[in-house]
Amino acid sequence: MGRRERSEMVNMSILMMMMMMSSTLMTMVDSSRLVQRASDDSEILRRHLLANGLGVTPPMGWNSWNHFSCNINETVIKETADALVTTGLSKLGYNYVNIDDCWAELSRDKKGKLVPKKSTFPSGIKALADYVHSKGLKLGIYSDAGYLTCSKTMPGSLGYEEKDAKTFAEWGIDYLKYDNCNTDGTRPTVRYPVMTRALMKSGRPIFHSLCEWGDMHPALWGAPLGNSWRTTNDINDSWLSMISIADMNEIYAAHARPGGWNDPDMLEVGNGGMTKDEYIVHFSIWAISKAPLLLGCDIRNMTKETMEIVANKEVIALNQDPHGVQAKKARMEGDIQVWAGPLSGYRVALLLLNRGPKRSDITAFWDDIEIPPNSIVEARDLWKLVDGFQSRMLMNNGLALTPQMGWNSWNHFQCNINETLIKQTADAMVSSGLSARGYKYINIDDCWGELKRDAQGNMVAKASTFPSGMKALSDYVHSKGLKLGIYSDAGTFTCSQTMPGSLGHEEQDAKTFASWGIDYLKYDNCFNTGTSPKERYPKMSKALMNSGRSIFFSLCEWGQDDPATWAGDIGNSWRTTGDIQDNWKSMTTIADQNDRWASYARPGSWNDPDMLEVGNGGMTREEYRSHFSIWALAKAPLLIGCDLRSMDKVTFELLSNKDVIAVNQDKLGIQGKKVKKDGDLEVWAGPLSKKRVAVILWNRGSLPANITAGWEDIGLHSSAIVNARDLWAHSTHSGVKKQLSALVEPHACKMYTLTRRKA
Ligand SMILES: *[C@@H]1O[C@H](CO)[C@@H](O)[C@H](O)[C@H]1NC(C)=O
Ligand SMILES: *[C@@H]1O[C@H](CO)[C@@H](O)[C@H](O)[C@H]1NC(C)=O
Ligand SMILES: *[C@@H]1O[C@H](CO)[C@@H](O)[C@H](O)[C@H]1NC(C)=O
Ligand SMILES: *[C@@H]1O[C@H](CO)[C@@H](O)[C@H](O)[C@H]1NC(C)=O
Ligand SMILES: *[C@@H]1O[C@H](CO)[C@@H](O)[C@H](O)[C@H]1NC(C)=O
Repeated sequence: MGRRERSEMVNMSILMMMMMMSSTLMTMVDSSRLVQRASDDSEILRRHLLANGLGVTPPMGWNSWNHFSCNINETVIKETADALVTTGLSKLGYNYVNIDDCWAELSRDKKGKLVPKKSTFPSGIKALADYVHSKGLKLGIYSDAGYLTCSKTMPGSLGYEEKDAKTFAEWGIDYLKYDNCNTDGTRPTVRYPVMTRALMKSGRPIFHSLCEWGDMHPALWGAPLGNSWRTTNDINDSWLSMISIADMNEIYAAHARPGGWNDPDMLEVGNGGMTKDEYIVHFSIWAISKAPLLLGCDIRNMTKETMEIVANKEVIALNQDPHGVQAKKARMEGDIQVWAGPLSGYRVALLLLNRGPKRSDITAFWDDIEIPPNSIVEARDLWKLVDGFQSRMLMNNGLALTPQMGWNSWNHFQCNINETLIKQTADAMVSSGLSARGYKYINIDDCWGELKRDAQGNMVAKASTFPSGMKALSDYVHSKGLKLGIYSDAGTFTCSQTMPGSLGHEEQDAKTFASWGIDYLKYDNCFNTGTSPKERYPKMSKALMNSGRSIFFSLCEWGQDDPATWAGDIGNSWRTTGDIQDNWKSMTTIADQNDRWASYARPGSWNDPDMLEVGNGGMTREEYRSHFSIWALAKAPLLIGCDLRSMDKVTFELLSNKDVIAVNQDKLGIQGKKVKKDGDLEVWAGPLSKKRVAVILWNRGSLPANITAGWEDIGLHSSAIVNARDLWAHSTHSGVKKQLSALVEPHACKMYTLTRRKA
C-alpha cells in the first residue's frame, strides 16, 4: 500500500513536469506571430477565441444527467427550476439549469435545425428558456462535437456548429455542454474551436463547457476555447470513482483561473451511492478545487442531509472566492492527505482528508500550506455546522468552557427524591469541601413533577415531595453558592412515566424553568414518538436560548443518532452511550464507546459518558479510581452519583483529587483518548495547556502488569525530557526520557501529568 502510494506520487510528479514543459511551449507559441493556417492546432493557441466574460467564478447549478440520464422532459426541468428557487439554492448561487443528452429528435428539420423532442419537450426549448429565465435562472443545453450525441438518440453538432449555435442563441440558451462521442476521428483541438467561434458569433454570451473527458489534456489547450473543460471520464456515484477523479483533476490545478476551470464532472451528492461523510468529502474537494458545482441529484426531492451539504455557504464561498486559485495536495502519507490553496484576503483553504478505513489524527504544518512559520491563525471549521443547518449557533450561552461538575440524584436515588434530600446534598457539597474543588451543579433527575400540567399547561413540582416548589429550592441552592439543575424529556412522558415530557411544550417549559431560577437542564429521550432527535432537541435548545436565562443544556439522547456529529451547535454536552451501571463491565464498555467521539469534544460542548458511580459500592477502590481518572482525562462531565451526605473517606479522596480534577478542567479542552492497546493493557493520553500531557496507564486485566507509554504514543518528541507528576501517589519523577513505565495492579491505573523540562 505504502509503496503504491509512493509510486503514484512519482508518476504524478513526472506528469506535472511534463505539463510544465508543455505549458512553456504554449507560452512560446502564444507570443510568436505565426501566419494563420486554417484547422492547424497552433491556431487555437494563438488567439483567445472565447472572450464571453463568463465563468469569472466556477459555474453553479444543476444538470440532468447524473440522476435522470435520458429520462427527462420539460416538466422535470421546470420543476427543478422551481425547486432551485423554493429551496433557497438559487440564492446561494446555483443558477444554471442544464439539460443534458436526449432532448432532441434524431432528425434535423428541413432547414437542418435541431428539433426538440416532441414527446418530451412539446412546448419547445424557447418556451422552457422563458420559464427558467422568469425564475431568475439560466438554461443550459447539450450537444456533441461528433455526428451523434453519446446516447445516439439525437444528432451532434459536427459540421453544424454555426447553425446550432444560432439556434441556441435564438432560444435564449446560456450554457452549452459539448460532448465528445461519435466523432470523425479528428482531434478535439480541431473540432472544439469551431464551436467556440460559432458561439462567439451567435450574438449571445453562452458559457462553453468542453466535455472532452481529459483524454488530450484539455487543461493545456482549453483555456482559449472554453470556460471549463472536463479533465476526467464520467463520474459515477461511488467513493472509488469520486476519489480517483479528484486525484486526476488535481494534476491540472495550475491551469485553472477565472474564466477557465478544470471540470472533474458533476456532483453526485444526494444520489445515494456514498455515505454522508463521503459526500462531504466530495463536495469539499470540488469546492476547493474550483470545480463547477453542478448538482446532479433530484432537486425536487432532496433530503435535509443533502441540503445541509450542498447549501453550506462557507464551503460555497471557497469555491466562488474571487482569487480563483485551485487548491492542491500539500502532503500525502498513506491514506492521510492535506489539501490547501490560497484564498483572497490572505486566507488559506485547508482540507484534512482521511481516505482510509480508520479514524486518524491529521496534522497540517504551516510549511505544507505556505503559511509563514511563526504565524498565528484563526482556524474556522466549515463543517462543524453541518447538522446544525437549521439550528446553527443556537446554543451560544457561554457555558461549559470546561466540563460541568456537580451531582445528580439518579444513580443513587432514582425516583426516591424530595426537597429535603436536595437541600441536604447542597449542604454536604459545601461542608465536605467538594464545592470548593469545582462541583457546583445540584441536579434533580426524573420524578420531580406531577403527572398533570396545571390549567395553564405549566409543569408543576410534585406536592408530596417538593411542597415548597422549585423556586424556593433554587433560592436555597443559590444561597449556598451552587446551581440547580432539573430534568425533562424530549417526548410525551419522562422515562419514569410519572411526569410529562416537554415535547410540544418546549417554549413554555423553558420559560417555567427560567422563572424558577434553574441553571441546567438534562433532557432525556423516552416516549419520543419516533421523530428524529435532530428535530426534537434543537427545539428545546432554541427555547432555552429564548428563555431569558443562561441554562446549561445537557442532551441525553443515549448516543443513538451519533449526537457528537450534530449536537455541538445546540447543546453543552450530549450523552454518547446508554445508562451506566455500577459495575466494572458497564463502566469500561462505556469508556470505550465514548472514546470513539473524542475529536468532537471542545470547550462549550462535551461528550457525556454518563454520571459517576464512584461511592455507590458496586466497584472496588481501584476500579473507581480508574473510572474517575478516565472520566477526567476524557473531559467527561464530573457529576457525582452517590449519596454525598454519607460518603466515606475513600470516596471523598477519589472525588476531591485536585490534580485529577485539573486535568478535566484544563482550559485547552481537548479530550484525551486511548492511544495504545496491548491486550488488556492500555495507554490513554491527551494534551493539556502549557504543552503538558496527561497520561493514564490502565490495566484492565486480572494480573499485575508493567505498562509503558512511549513518547511517540503520547505525542511527545523522542528527545523530550519531562517531569512526570503521579497524580494519585502525589509524587514527581524528574528527568524522564523516552518512555514512562509502571507496574499497575489489576483493574487499576496510574495517572500522570508530564511537563516538559526546558532544554
Ligand atoms: C418526466 O420525467 C420524470 C423524471 O424522469 C418522470 O418521473 C415523469 O413521469 C415524466 N413526465 C412525463 C409527463 O413524461
Ligand atoms: C465506478 O467507477 C469506479 C472507478 O472508476 C469503477 O471501479 C466502478 O466499476 C464504476 N462503477 C460503475 C457502476 O460503473
Ligand atoms: C423522494 O426520495 C425518497 C428517498 O429519499 C424516495 O423514497 C421517494 O420515492 C422519492 N420521491 C420521488 C417522488 O421521487
Ligand atoms: C427524602 O428522600 C430521602 C432519600 O430517598 C429519604 O431517605 C427520606 O426519607 C425522604 N424524606 C421525606 C420527608 O420523604
Ligand atoms: C515489571 O518490570 C520489572 C522491571 O523490569 C520486573 O522486575 C518485574 O518482574 C515486572 N513485573 C511484571 C509483573 O511483569
